[in-house]
Amino acid sequence: MTAALQKTPKPKVVCAPPAIEVTTLTKAFYNSDADRVTLAVSDFSFSVARGEFVCIVGPSGCGKTTVLRILADLESKLSGEVKLHTDDAPAMVFQEASVLPWLTVAQNVALPLKLKGTPQAQQKARVEEMLALTGLTSFANARPSQLSGGMRQRVSVARALADDRDILLMDEPFGALDEQTRLVLQQELLRIWEATRKTVVFITHSVDEALTLADRVLVMSPRPGTLVADLKVPFERPRDVVEMRRDKRFWDLTYEVWNLLASPGGA
Ligand SMILES: Nc1ncnc2c1ncn2[C@@H]1O[C@H](COP(=O)(O)OP(=O)(O)OP(=O)(O)O)[C@@H](O)[C@H]1O
Ligand SMILES: [Mg+2]
Repeated sequence: MTAALQKTPKPKVVCAPPAIEVTTLTKAFYNSDADRVTLAVSDFSFSVARGEFVCIVGPSGCGKTTVLRILADLESKLSGEVKLHTDDAPAMVFQEASVLPWLTVAQNVALPLKLKGTPQAQQKARVEEMLALTGLTSFANARPSQLSGGMRQRVSVARALADDRDILLMDEPFGALDEQTRLVLQQELLRIWEATRKTVVFITHSVDEALTLADRVLVMSPRPGTLVADLKVPFERPRDVVEMRRDKRFWDLTYEVWNLLASPGGA
């Protein structure tokens, strides 16, 4: 009995170093004659541990894209602090597919590798892998204009994944896709993330997408966006996107997040 007691493992305290620290971030947009100000984000604070997958949900216009653009250094902040603990710039998948129309699908996916000077053979292998992953192999030589909107967005995802950055910022990457393709890509993204453990900040309108993918879900208030809740998602990994929908906790959490979105001030 004593032996059994001695064997009881002590609870592990996991202190993963933060990859992203955002403190009281505030952002305002001024119109051209500076007489009208839109406060987009106000006093928003959160951190993301290295290798953590965090989803941000919030009503349309609450400042989600703005936060991501500030993280990617594509937008300035008004006040607050943003720290990314990485040597690389983050890879970003934009809300609207941002493929280059004059390049083929394969050339679009290869672009970050080409810019980095990756050897040709490695580029080719990596591009093939990414195209297979996103179901685009047979469209490798197509131009973006020959693809559907959803397929163009898949090219953006493949391109962001092709480049092996520490931090991946994804702004509703699957928002334009049909439900079935979306599930397939969620499963693929989970698989890739479980293999690579990149730090991911993923924005979505879909509560169930957030719960499917994330370790934590951050819920934002309506504009000006601020943090309403920071919820831990308890599902073990690896996850099966279909199976997890049989878990009652999935629907309890869905209900909880929807309640927060419906009454962001709290009960
Ligand atoms: N360049 C800009 N100039 C002026 N206002 C802007 C600019 N970009 C965003 N805004 C305003 O900031 C607010 C937040 O916009 P943002 O695009 O971050 O919202 P969002 O949460 O991503 O919305 P959605 O879910 O619809 O994508 C909105 O009111 C928007 O009008
Ligand atoms: Mg947006």
